[in-house]
Amino acid sequence: MKIGICPGSFDPITYGHIDIIERAANICDKVIVSVLDNDSKKALFSLEERVRLIKEVVKEFDNVEVESFNSLLIDYAREREALVIIKGLRAVSDFEYEFQMALMNRKLCPEIETIFLTTNNRYSYLSSSLVKEIAKFGGCIDKLVPMAINEAVSKRIKESSIKS
Ligand code: PNS
Repeated sequence: MKIGICPGSFDPITYGHIDIIERAANICDKVIVSVLDNDSKKALFSLEERVRLIKEVVKEFDNVEVESFNSLLIDYAREREALVIIKGLRAVSDFEYEFQMALMNRKLCPEIETIFLTTNNRYSYLSSSLVKEIAKFGGCIDKLVPMAINEAVSKRIKESSIKS
């Protein structure tokens, strides 16, 4: 079985991520969307919330699973018997960092390939950070994230502005 890993922070998941996940699911037998357990204090959503929100928006894809990881990506990918790590590339600015990570991951484990899917033109400007910033200042994120994510982001921003 060809297993692909789509790793990331997904804080929050955007239409750009979903486009890559869908295309990865067309290439692989199974895709695992893998959410990094990073410093969730700085994140808008906790790890559990991010996993739940992603599950909600990828439920239409039969061969996509969602889970979290808290280790080197390559060790996790090996544990999951993945054949490939699949990343989206938006612009040249993404390239240097992604290239470095791909080469390092290959050094650590030559059997697992990293493949890059070029982003759909429609989403080349899209990032989770911009979504959060736009929402924070009251801008419209309707076309950037699915409704479930939009609602969760708006709710969280409202809660945090009440607290501060
Ligand atoms: O969505 P992001 O934040 O760009 O995703 C980055 C991610 C999670 C893919 C990357 O930070 C990662 O793989 N982290 C796991 C730790 C690791 O393996 N680091 C060494 C990479 S060579």
